[in-house]
Formats: sequence, structure tokens, C-alpha cells
Amino acid sequence: MVQVDHILKLLRPESVAVIGASRHPEKIGYQVVKNLLDSGFPRDKIFPVNPRAKEILGLKAYPTILDVPEPVDLAVIVVPAPIVPRVLEEAGKKGVKAAAIITSGFKEIGNVEAERRLVEIARKYGMRILGPNIVGICDTVKGVNASFCQALPNPGEIAFITQSGALGIALVGWTKIKGIGLSDLVSIGNKADINEVDLIEFFGRDPYTRVITAYLEGIEDGRRFLQVARAVSRKKPIIILKAGKAKRTLGAIKSHTGTLAGSDAAYNAAFKQTGVVRAPTFIDLFDWATAFAKAHLPEGENVVILTNGGGAGIMATDAAEEWGVKLIDIPEDLAKKLRRHMPPFGSVFNPVDLTGMADYDGYLGAMKDLLLDKRVHAIVVLYCHTAITDPMEIANAVLEAIKETGSRKTVIASFIGGEEVLSACSKLTENGVPCYESPEKAMAALGILYRYVKMREKLDKRTMIDVKRDVQAARALIQSVLEEDRHVLTPSEAAQLAEYYGIPVLKRVLTHTPEEAVEAAKKLGYPVVLEVESPDILHKSDVGGIIINIRSDEEVRDAYARIMDSVKAKAPNARIKGIVVRRMAEEGREMIIGAHRDPIFGPLVMFGSGGILVELIRDVSFRVAPLSLEDAYDMVEETKAYKIIKGYRGEPPGDLESVIYTLLKVSQLMMDLPEIEDVDINPFFVYEKGKGGLAVDVKIVLKKD
Ligand code: COA
Repeated sequence: MVQVDHILKLLRPESVAVIGASRHPEKIGYQVVKNLLDSGFPRDKIFPVNPRAKEILGLKAYPTILDVPEPVDLAVIVVPAPIVPRVLEEAGKKGVKAAAIITSGFKEIGNVEAERRLVEIARKYGMRILGPNIVGICDTVKGVNASFCQALPNPGEIAFITQSGALGIALVGWTKIKGIGLSDLVSIGNKADINEVDLIEFFGRDPYTRVITAYLEGIEDGRRFLQVARAVSRKKPIIILKAGKAKRTLGAIKSHTGTLAGSDAAYNAAFKQTGVVRAPTFIDLFDWATAFAKAHLPEGENVVILTNGGGAGIMATDAAEEWGVKLIDIPEDLAKKLRRHMPPFGSVFNPVDLTGMADYDGYLGAMKDLLLDKRVHAIVVLYCHTAITDPMEIANAVLEAIKETGSRKTVIASFIGGEEVLSACSKLTENGVPCYESPEKAMAALGILYRYVKMREKLDKRTMIDVKRDVQAARALIQSVLEEDRHVLTPSEAAQLAEYYGIPVLKRVLTHTPEEAVEAAKKLGYPVVLEVESPDILHKSDVGGIIINIRSDEEVRDAYARIMDSVKAKAPNARIKGIVVRRMAEEGREMIIGAHRDPIFGPLVMFGSGGILVELIRDVSFRVAPLSLEDAYDMVEETKAYKIIKGYRGEPPGDLESVIYTLLKVSQLMMDLPEIEDVDINPFFVYEKGKGGLAVDVKIVLKKD
């Protein structure tokens, strides 16, 4: 639970002490005081602290914060790292509730212990820390520049949280030239105490923030993020640029799921399940944030493109298809009205093309007709600059139409041209019509609004299914494996564990001699499969440990000997517990179902196209457990494998439910049994609808520690 009061004091303080305020203009401690003054913070509420100075920038300086005669809400700390603990302790004694530590030289250079000590001091005094290693705080709501950013950003309704201080500073300037306004820019640095989740929670409730954006390299507490982000996304959009896609280093044992589940897959899954929009670049991030901050969310799916240029219209149409935005066919009665605003060579198909002749009246009339028509929910208005029109007039026509109709529909614009269009575009954006430099960007912004609306609807539907299972037996089985100091279950153990969770598996018989194997095969019925049972062999086919389609007693004896010889040659150190005999599974559509425990978000469940080429094909999707029924359907529908299950090229539909319920069972298994690191069911055969599915090969790996 976020302490709103502490974060309010941090971002919007009534009084600020700058510990390490300097007399020298080239030092950060000087700039912070100057920035506070420049941002209009009341002079009598800024307290420079410096034992060597009498005054700084005309303000009285105090030797320590304890000498400040008034209460202090925020302490900004800009002294070298070795002095930070002392001054932080003093701030605590003073009763300060929030400290922003600009100083570098802690965890980022391996000084973990020193950083931990800062948190300890803060806890002792009930104080919260931002940083260390930050640029400070820029808040435009109250007008607080307690940072070494060159200036405050323009005021606005987008909160920006950044793990990179330098990027934050740079973006202050960039957002200004782009006319983007921010409520706050918060650099979180090393996140010793306050982290992105605290801030998302705070901004979720902040009346001055409409959109929450962040640049993050990692998330501290994945499970809390899931909870907080899901709740906040219902109220306002969160857009995150998550950098650092390199795969997590994997241990010696590589399950397919583990290999495929790089940490980026976990972030993607977590964002999808919490309604977070992921932006690939900071330009997209701010483009999209502007759309959320300025435009109304669409209340229906029907979109019309209005343009004065055919080419721009076609580009927007292509982008609409890419983003899944639905362009409606213009109904005849509406077309008739629209024709009044264009020359005879105009077009009333969608895109509606007013032609290069379009002027103020043309745009005004067409916009009004579209805004007043109940069948139209959103409009993308495009303008290509021509010598015969003034872009400002066109912008005015768009705004006038919205004003006259009192419409709350989503209107997004793109004005294409040189300098002439810039002020018209800014005027539109400022007045609730986000305007972009290209039709594709405008359509992408609309596509993102739709994506968010859909994700938000999904957040409300979470059907949790109760999985029947024998947890006691599963725990006992895991215990017995751990007691043998093993962390890989044998195929039989893995199948048994899956069975405890109701996952359909084949009956297996463990045999120790060729004759036992023949007996078992006779009982099970031919054809059968023989496979080696060893805790040390994860991929049996790699060592010749599996032979399929065995059809007679003689073939069983032969296969038994061949497997033994091959395994002994290729994996001489593997412990062999025997040979398992199982019935040959009837071929089905080959899928993979798996799970992997992610260090940040916890258990991740995977689904995709199975077989030996899974890592090459990479047709997989992930969700963080516990899965809801909706999560399970979503993740399946995301893959190409879904088309195969549904019936590709005339095949009858497959048993989708068997996949969905196996995913839910695997999710439950991962939630119940924290000892499990990886589960791989490959292949999982899907049969025709009504005939179920089968986990043919189950691998389970336990955590090593
Ligand atoms: N209390 C208050 N002020 C103190 C003090 C104390 N106990 N002890 C010293 N000071 C004063 C110094 O006298 C100095 O003032 P002066 O210039 O008027 O003499 C001021 O604090 C700053 O100390 P100084 O030793 O000059 O440090 P500095 O300004 O060279 O560096 C930091 C301090 C914090 C800026 C530097 O250590 C640092 O971490 N820089 C990196 C910051 C950064 O990049 N952050 C991350 C951004 S992404």
C-alpha cells in the first residue's frame, strides 16, 4: 500500500531543504537551489544546508537540517556518497518524511551495503527515499523543480517515471519542442526504497495525472506490479517502455519452456494481463500518451477517415488494417450528406476524400455530419498542405465542428506539411484533437486507444476455475525426489505428478528386464513405446533413449537392448532406473504446454506449436499464473497453433477445451508447488473435438536450491 502522504511530500512539498546546496554555480547543489527558485517555489520555504556557507543565492544557509527553524517536507540530498548516511540521519531526526538522494556511488557501482544502510536509516524514522542516483524531481502541478534538469517540463497530464536520469533530463527539452506537457517527471535511479510500483499506485490516484508513462529497465516486485497495475489500468492508462530485451542467462538444464521464456516474455505477459500498453520507443510512448491525455476514448468500433489527399487516406487505411481498426462502409444516407461538402470528383467511400479543393467549409460540414451520425464512433482527420488552404483554418474548422455539435467522439488528426502546419497541429492537440505528423502515427494512436479499451474490458472478466487435484500426493512425490538429492523428475514421476492434477497422460509401466518389458507390452497392447527412465536424461531422443512403434515381443527385446546400449554409450554417467513401456499414443495435433518460474513475476505458463522444432518455430505465448479462463483462451488465440486446433485446411476442429483446461491445471500446479522450476509437456496431442488431448511426454525440473 503506497503512502500517499509521503509521496505527496516528495513530489509536491510545501518546504524543501537542499542538503549540499553549493556556493558554486557549476555544482549540482547550486543548480538545485537555483531551479527551485526559478520554478517559482516560495523563497521562504527553500532551506539551503551547507556548514561552510552563510547564504546561497540570497537565501540563508543552515549548517545542518536540524538548524532549520521550520518543518521540512522534502530533503534533497546532494552531498558526496560517504556523507549521505549522516545527513539522512539528521533529516530523519528533523522529522522529514521524504528524501530525494541525487548522489551517485551506491548500488550501481556495487556499493550495495551502503545503499541498504540508507534504507535502514529511512525506516527508523518512517521516512521514504527516492533514489539514490537520480536527477531529482520535476513537478509542474505545484511548480517544483528540485532537480538538476535545465527547467521544468511544460505542464500537462502525463506523469513520466524514468529509471534513467539522463534520459529524463533529455526528455524535458524534447517534450517541450514537441509541445507535450507532463504533470511530473520522476527519476527513480537505484530504487532503494520508492520504486515504479509505488509511483504507479500514487499517480493512479492523482487527480492531476491522466496517463502514467514510464521508462523502465526492470521491475522490482513483479507480483505487486501485477496487482497494482491491474487496478490502476482500470482507471487510467499506463504506458511503459521496457528496455533490455536480452535473454536471462539460463542454467545448465534447459527445458524448452525455460529457453523460450526469456524475461522479456514475462514482461510482455504481465503487461497484457494488467492492461499496460508497451511502447517500443520513447517517441511512440509520448505519441500514445498524448492521445490518451487529449482525446476521448472511443465508445464504438466504427471509424471514418476524412482527408483532402487520396495518398494520405490510403496510408491511413493500410495502418488501420495493421492496427485492427475497423473502417465502416459509409451508409448511403450519410454519403448523400457528405457529397454536399466536396466537388463531384470527391469520394464518399471510406476514406472520405474532400479532394485538394477542400476548404474551411468543406471540413466543417463533413466533420459535423460525421460527428452527428450515431453510426460513426471515431474520426481520423487528415490534411495535406496545399497552396490554396491555410492549415490553421482547417484546424479551426475541425475544432468548430466539435464545438458546434458538442460531440465527445474520438477525433485524431494528422497534418502533413512543412512549418506551416506546425502551429495548426499544436492547436488541435491542445484542444483535444491529438495531431500527428503522419497518417500512420495518427492511426496507431487510435489503434492504441482501442487496444486499451479492449484490455480494460478484459480486466473485469477473470473467471477462476477450481482445479481438482491431489496436492498432498504431489508434495510427497516432490519430497521423495528431493530426498534423493535430485532435481529432475524421471518421466514416470513427471507423468504421475501431472496425473495428480488431472492432466491426461498415458499409462506407463516401469520394467527392469527385457522379459518384464515384453509382459508389460502384451498387457498394454501393441504398438508400444520403450523409453529410458533416468533422472539424468532430459531429452531422451538425443541419447537414443526412446524407440517408438514397437509391434511385437521380439521387437520389444531388441528395442530394450538397443536403448540400453545407446544410453550407456552416449550418457555413460546417467543413472538408469529401468525402461518404461507405454502404449503408442494415437497421433494428434502437436502442441507444447509448459511453465517456467520467472524470477520477477513468478510462474509463467506457456502454450504453442509443439514438436522438436519448438525453439526454431517459436510459435508460443505466455501468461503469468494464476491463469483465469480468459487468460488461457487469450494465450491460445494468440498463436498460429490456434488455427491448427480450430481446423486448418479442411481438418475438423480439435479439442480446444483439452488445451485450455491443461493450461489451467499447469497454472495451478505451479501455484501450489513452489519447488517446481520448469514444466514441459511436449508434445501435447490434441485430438478431434470431444476426444480430448494427451500429455505424451512430461518433463518436470525442480529448483536447485
Ligand atoms: N551538509 C551539507 N553540505 C555539505 C556537507 C554537509 N555535511 N558537507 C559538505 N557540504 C557541501 C560542500 O561544502 C559543497 O558546498 P560548496 O561547494 O559550497 O563548498 C556541497 O556540499 C557539495 O559538496 P561537494 O563535496 O562539493 O560535492 P560535489 O558537488 O562535487 O558532488 C554530488 C556531490 C552529490 C553531486 C556527487 O557526489 C554526485 O553524486 N554526482 C553525481 C550525481 C548524479 O549524476 N546523479 C544521477 C543522475 S542520473
